[in-house]
Amino acid sequence: MGDMEQGKVPVNSETKVYGVYGDPIKQSKSPLMLNRAFAETGINAVYAAFHILPGRLEAAVAGIRGMGFGGVNVTIPYKVEVMQYLDEIDESARFAGAVNTIVNREGVLTGYNTDGIGYVRSLKEETGVQLQGKRILMIGAGGAARGVAYGLAKEGAGTIYIANRTADKASELAAILKPICEAQGMGMEGIVHIKDKVDLVMNTTSVGMHPNVDQMPVEPDWFRPGMIVSDLVYNPLETKLLREAKQRGAQTHGGLGMFVYQGAYAFEYWTGAAAPVEAMRDAVLRSLRGNN
Ligand code: ATR
Repeated sequence: MGDMEQGKVPVNSETKVYGVYGDPIKQSKSPLMLNRAFAETGINAVYAAFHILPGRLEAAVAGIRGMGFGGVNVTIPYKVEVMQYLDEIDESARFAGAVNTIVNREGVLTGYNTDGIGYVRSLKEETGVQLQGKRILMIGAGGAARGVAYGLAKEGAGTIYIANRTADKASELAAILKPICEAQGMGMEGIVHIKDKVDLVMNTTSVGMHPNVDQMPVEPDWFRPGMIVSDLVYNPLETKLLREAKQRGAQTHGGLGMFVYQGAYAFEYWTGAAAPVEAMRDAVLRSLRGNN
């Protein structure tokens, strides 16, 4: 399918090059998603996966300038290390402490983080939720949580409660958030005291991800109708947490949209064109279902 669509926009001497840097990189769904987006919009560009070996990241970043790539995505394990090699760091990346998107503007490289804002855009577009003033329980206080908290705060969230296995990390994140949003950190045992106040619950940990599909980050007995339960995990597409939430009448939201929209923002920063989000989602879904 990828080949067929690339055929619509032949590669020539004008073709702009984009890509993703990571190690490993074979598993990445970004090439098929972004190439679909370029094909769909008729933009003369290609997107490749680059396997960057340990110790080669700095040279790879210099390669963006040297070869005039339009930009790259950065994935595990390089999202933090890459920051030191860039010219500018956007607020989104400074807050998240990690870069997943680099834009090359005439040799000046700027690092962004589109994971958190991508997640929030998918949450809004897929559930219709208005985040302003909402009380949100975020489970987890790692890198993903930081980016998501930034996105939620930017949308005017009311209070963000952060519950984490390691309570100190939750308190640290709450302290970082306080200048831009009401926030409170706690250990998992703190959830019982705030559970009746929250409108939205989101899992930012990897608990429940394949192959540990029988695990959940919290006991779901207090989920109720009117609540939105969201999981950043998208493998499986419906986690046990979401299944249990649905059974209790809550509205659910899975993590696939976060992946799609982080790529949509990257596409938009690079090209200035609106991302063809549904085509991008379709490309990823087909691949996850094994029929592309
Ligand atoms: P990421 O970038 O994916 O957020 P991370 O920065 O390593 O990864 O953060 C992982 C988060 O998932 C942390 O909040 C972690 O809790 P701790 O701070 O206590 O380590 C949480 N996490 C991971 N595995 C977990 C588990 N089995 N049970 C509960 N929390 C877990």
